[in-house]
Amino acid sequence: MLNGDGMSRFRSHLQQTQVKETPAYTIYPKGLTSPYRDSRFKVGEDMYALLGIPRQDKPARFAHLARNYDFFDAPCGFFCYIDKQMGPPQWSDLGMFLQTFMLLAQEAGLDTCAQEAWAMRSNAVAQFLNPDPQLLLFCGMAIGYKNPDAPVNTLVSDREPLDNWATFID
Ligand SMILES: Cc1cc2nc3c(=O)[nH]c(=O)nc-3n(C[C@H](O)[C@H](O)[C@H](O)COP(=O)(O)O)c2cc1C
Repeated sequence: MLNGDGMSRFRSHLQQTQVKETPAYTIYPKGLTSPYRDSRFKVGEDMYALLGIPRQDKPARFAHLARNYDFFDAPCGFFCYIDKQMGPPQWSDLGMFLQTFMLLAQEAGLDTCAQEAWAMRSNAVAQFLNPDPQLLLFCGMAIGYKNPDAPVNTLVSDREPLDNWATFID
């Protein structure tokens, strides 16, 4: 968990480091097929529409992506690692832990943003944290107070209709 002076030191570290990066893991499968591919595309387009960044404006899109690496200005954040020996069932456990954490944070009046984007900067993070080499960086999480006036924070991702993903057998 990074907070206060720890967060300031981490931010300075990140600005200074030039470490070469290799993604900690593949965030999206290569050749992702429909409907997942379409949903991924749609939520991205919906987000950039709210940000007012058109598809052609790659520098602006890249700049928004880069805001992940400042925890979107949040005062506090954490990194979540998983032991490399763990497989899909344990990754699912971790997802449940993170969701519970986010719900409790909301109950406490805080807002969060889970950030797999940190997997793309795992070496820079490791330089600062010195984690056990057996651990793999799954994600970061920004914790703070969302800006209610920022249009991007009004994004609600499309929900797939129930009948598309559930089968009811009476
Ligand atoms: C595990 C996980 C990782 C995520 N990684 C990122 C990320 O790196 N950057 C980002 O902007 N949003 C990321 N998101 C999405 C945001 O947290 C998103 O705002 C949130 O999931 C919206 O909730 P919704 O699914 O209810 O629309 C991630 C979400 C999850 C659950």
